[in-house]
Amino acid sequence: MWLTKALCLTLLAGAGLAAPSTKGIYDLLQRRMPLHASSFELSLVDSIGNASAGYDQYVVSSTSKGKILVEGTTLSALSSGLRRYLTDVAHVDIYWYIGSRLNVAPFYLPALKAPIEGASVVPWRYHFNTVTFSYTGAFWSFEDWELQLDWMALHGINLPLAWVGAEKFIVEIFQEIGLTDVEISTFLSGPSFQGWNRFGNIQGSWNGELPLSWVDSQFAMNQQIVARMVELGMTPVLPSFTGFVPSAISRVLPNANVVIGSQWEGFPAEYTNDSFLEPTDPNFTMLQKSFVAKQQAAYGNVSHIYTLDQFNENNPSSSDPDYLRNVSYSNWQSLKAADPDAIWMMQGWLFFSNSAFWTDSLIEAWFDGVDVDSDMIVLDLFSESQPQWQRTNSYYGKPWIWCQLHDYGGNMGLYGQIYNVTINPIEALANSSSLVGFGLTMEGQEQENQIMYDLLLDQAWSPTPIDTELYFENWVTTRYSGSITVPKGLYSAWEVMRTTVYNNANLASSAVTKSIFGLEPSKSGLTNRTGHHPTTINYDTNVLVQAWNSFYGAAAQNAFLWGNPVYHYDLVDITRQVIANEFITLYVDLVDIYTSQTSSASALASAGRNLLALLDALDLVLSTNENFQLTSWIDRAVAWAEGNATNAAFYEYNARNQITLWGPTGQISDYASKDWSGLVSTYYKPRWQIFINYLQATPAASYNATALHAELLEFELKWQNEGTYMKLKRGATADLKTVLVQTQQEWPSMFST
Ligand SMILES: *[C@@H]1O[C@H](CO)[C@@H](O)[C@H](O)[C@H]1NC(C)=O
Ligand SMILES: *[C@@H]1O[C@H](CO)[C@@H](O)[C@H](O)[C@H]1NC(C)=O
Ligand SMILES: *[C@@H]1O[C@H](CO)[C@@H](O)[C@H](O)[C@H]1NC(C)=O
Ligand SMILES: *[C@@H]1O[C@H](CO)[C@@H](O)[C@H](O)[C@H]1NC(C)=O
Ligand SMILES: *[C@@H]1O[C@H](CO)[C@@H](O)[C@H](O)[C@H]1NC(C)=O
Ligand SMILES: *[C@@H]1O[C@H](CO)[C@@H](O)[C@H](O)[C@H]1NC(C)=O
Ligand SMILES: *[C@@H]1O[C@H](CO)[C@@H](O)[C@H](O)[C@H]1NC(C)=O
Ligand SMILES: *[C@@H]1O[C@H](CO)[C@@H](O)[C@H](O)[C@H]1NC(C)=O
Ligand SMILES: *[C@@H]1O[C@H](CO)[C@@H](O)[C@H](O)[C@H]1NC(C)=O
Ligand SMILES: *[C@@H]1O[C@H](CO)[C@@H](O)[C@H](O)[C@H]1NC(C)=O
Repeated sequence: MWLTKALCLTLLAGAGLAAPSTKGIYDLLQRRMPLHASSFELSLVDSIGNASAGYDQYVVSSTSKGKILVEGTTLSALSSGLRRYLTDVAHVDIYWYIGSRLNVAPFYLPALKAPIEGASVVPWRYHFNTVTFSYTGAFWSFEDWELQLDWMALHGINLPLAWVGAEKFIVEIFQEIGLTDVEISTFLSGPSFQGWNRFGNIQGSWNGELPLSWVDSQFAMNQQIVARMVELGMTPVLPSFTGFVPSAISRVLPNANVVIGSQWEGFPAEYTNDSFLEPTDPNFTMLQKSFVAKQQAAYGNVSHIYTLDQFNENNPSSSDPDYLRNVSYSNWQSLKAADPDAIWMMQGWLFFSNSAFWTDSLIEAWFDGVDVDSDMIVLDLFSESQPQWQRTNSYYGKPWIWCQLHDYGGNMGLYGQIYNVTINPIEALANSSSLVGFGLTMEGQEQENQIMYDLLLDQAWSPTPIDTELYFENWVTTRYSGSITVPKGLYSAWEVMRTTVYNNANLASSAVTKSIFGLEPSKSGLTNRTGHHPTTINYDTNVLVQAWNSFYGAAAQNAFLWGNPVYHYDLVDITRQVIANEFITLYVDLVDIYTSQTSSASALASAGRNLLALLDALDLVLSTNENFQLTSWIDRAVAWAEGNATNAAFYEYNARNQITLWGPTGQISDYASKDWSGLVSTYYKPRWQIFINYLQATPAASYNATALHAELLEFELKWQNEGTYMKLKRGATADLKTVLVQTQQEWPSMFST
C-alpha cells in the first residue's frame, strides 16, 4: 500500500506561505474539463511506496467508486500524473495556440487495471528564455497566460521565469533615487523589446515612449500570473536589479561607479551602450534590496530564486579575472543582502555566444566569486547543440539545468533533434552530479514542433532515453483522437518526419529553420544559411511531400478530421513548410534565369510571376487558421491600448517592427520573421515584387545590392506605420479543404513526390 498521509494544509503562520493545496489543480480541471472534474481525486502524499528512485513521484489508480485517484508527492507530481493518465489512457492533451482538448475525453473515463507510476529524474523542470516574453508573450492577455500556465503545469514544469511587469519595480527604485519620469521612461524599451532592455542590450524606444500605464497593467497581470504559478505548484524565478540604469544616474548619484556598456547588434549609441552601475558599488546593493523588498511585498514570499543576467551578448568592461570574480561576488552578496535565502539563476548563453571573451579561466574566475555552490543555478542554454557544461566542468560545481533552445526568434520551420534531447540529457545526468533539471529555453514559442518540447519534458520522467518511435506513435494517437480512430496516414506521416525533419544531426545548422521568402530579397545569400538565421533544409524535401500526402490523405479516410482543430492546425503547418520548400526551388530558378546570358526577358517575367503566385497561394492557406495570421499578433498589441489612439499606434509599431526591421532601420532585420497570412501579402510579397521589378530593369552585370537594399528599405520603413492591418480580415477567411483542392490544381508538381 502507498503511504497516504495528507500534508498539513493550514497556513504557515506569519510566513504568508501556504502549504501546498490541491485546489489549484482542481481548478485547472474545472477550467479545462468541467464535466469530468468530479471524476478525479487528487491527493498529496509523503511518499509513494514503489517509486523508490526519483524526485517528484506520482501514482494514478482507479478507486472502487469508479474515480481516478491521482496521488503525488508534490503539486507538480500530481499534475504530471494527471497528464500521464489523460494522454496515455484518455488520449487527450492540451496545446499551445490550438488550446485545450482535454474536454473531449470520453465522458466515462477509462478505468485503470493497474496503477501507473512515475518519478522525475531531476528535481527541476524549467521553462522560458528571457526573450520568450518578448518574441511570444509580449502582448499576451491573462487568458493567453492561463492556457500557457495550464500547459506548463500538466507538463511538469515547476520552475518558470516570471518577467512580466518587472518594470514596475525598476521604475519605483529609480524614482526613489530621484530620477524623473522622463529620464526613466526614455530608458525603458517598448513592449515587444523589453527582453533586450532587461538584458542591458538596448535602451529606449525608437518610435515613442513606453507609457507608464503599460507598466502598471503588466504588473497587475503578473500578480495574477505569479499567484497562479504558485497555485499550480511552480516556483517562479523572479527578476532582480541587474545594474542597467538610465544614463541620468550620474545626475542623481554623481559618485557612483558607472560604466558605459558596449554596442549591441549595430544599434545607434542612443539605443544601446547602456549605462551599468557596477555591482561592487554600494548603491548597487541598496537598489537590489529595494527592488527585492518591493517585489516581495507585491507577490508575497513565493520564491527565493532570482534571474540576473548582465553580459548576455555584451562583454564586461574588463577581462581581469579579479574584476569578474568581484562582480559575481557582488551580485551574489547583493541578492543575499536582499533575501538571505536567495538563489541566483543565470543564463549560460554568453559562454557560447561570446566564447572568444569567455575563456575557460575567466569562466572559472566568474563562478569562483560565489563561494556557496547551492546559491546558484546556471541554465546551459543550448544543450542539444552547443553544450557548455563539459568544458566548464559542470560550471565548476554550480547546479545547472540541461536546456533545449531549439528556436531563434519564433522562427517557424518544422525542425527537431530527437536523439539529442533524449540521449544527451540522460548521459549528462550520469556524468554530472550538479545537474538539477531539464528545461526549455526557446527564444520564441511561436512555432509548432510541439512534439520536441513534449519529448524533453517527458524525458524528465524517464531514467533511460525515450524510444522515439514508440513515443511518436503514442503521441499521434493522443493528438488526433477524440471521437475517432486515428487513420494510419497520420502515423506514417509523423514516422516519416521523425526520422527526417525531426532528426537533424547537422550541428552547423541546428535550430528551427526560417523560410527564405521572409528574408529581404537578394540574388544571393538566402539559401543554405547556418547560424542565427538558419535556412538550410537538412532533409530531402520530397520526404516532406510524402508525409504531406499521407497526412492530407488521412482526411479522405475520415472526414471528421476536417473538424478537428489539431488536424487543421497541423495540416496548415505542414502545407506551409511544403510551400516554403517549393519557394526555394522557384527562387533558385529565378536567379538562374536572371544570371544566365541566354535567358529571355519573358522567361524572367514568367519566373517572377510564378514566385509571386506561390506567395498568394501560401497566404491563402495560412489565412484559414487564425494562429497563422498577422492580425492575431497586432490585435493583441492594440488591445492593450484600451482605446488610447497614441498608445495603440505605439504598440502596433512595436508589434510590426519586431517581426520585420527589428530596430529603427533594420538592425537585425527579419530575425523574427513569421510565416503569417497578412504579413506574406502586405510585406513579403511587395518586397519580392520590388526585387523582381529590379531584376527586370537591371542587367545582371549592373546588379547593385546597395541600391536594391535602399529601395527595399524605403518600403520596409513605410510599412512600419502603415496601419493596413485594420483592413485585413479576421478569423478563418477561407476554408482549408477548398483552398487545398484549389492549391493542388494550381501547383500539381509541388504535391507530388
Ligand atoms: C519566507 O520564507 C522563508 C522560507 O522559505 C522564511 O525563512 C522567511 O522567514 C520568509 N520570509 C517572510 C518575510 O515571511
Ligand atoms: C511494485 O513494482 C513491482 C515491479 O515493478 C511490481 O511487481 C509490484 O506489483 C509493484 N507493487 C505495487 C504495490 O504496485
Ligand atoms: C493616451 O495615453 C498617453 C500616455 O501614453 C496620454 O498622454 C494621453 O493623454 C492619452 N490620451 C487620451 C485621449 O487619454
Ligand atoms: C550612493 O552613492 C552616493 C553618491 O553617489 C553616496 O552619497 C551614497 O552614500 C551611496 N549610497 C550607498 C548606500 O552607498
Ligand atoms: C558604444 O560601444 C562601442 C563598443 O561596442 C564603442 O565603440 C562606442 O564608442 C560606444 N559609444 C558610446 C557613445 O559610448
Ligand atoms: C576586487 O575586490 C577586492 C576586494 O574588494 C579589491 O581589493 C580588488 O582591487 C578588486 N579587484 C578588481 C580588479 O576590481
Ligand atoms: C546530437 O545527436 C547527433 C546524432 O543525431 C550526434 O551526432 C551529435 O553528436 C549530438 N550532439 C551533441 C552535442 O551531443
Ligand atoms: C561521460 O563521461 C565518460 C567518462 O568520463 C566520457 O567518456 C563520456 O564522453 C562522457 N559523456 C558525456 C556526454 O559527456
Ligand atoms: C544547399 O547545399 C546543398 C549541399 O551543399 C546543395 O546540394 C544545394 O544545392 C544547396 N541548395 C541551395 C538552394 O543552394
Ligand atoms: C550602387 O548603388 C549605390 C546607391 O545607389 C551607389 O552609391 C553606388 O555607386 C552603386 N555602385 C555601383 C558600382 O554602381
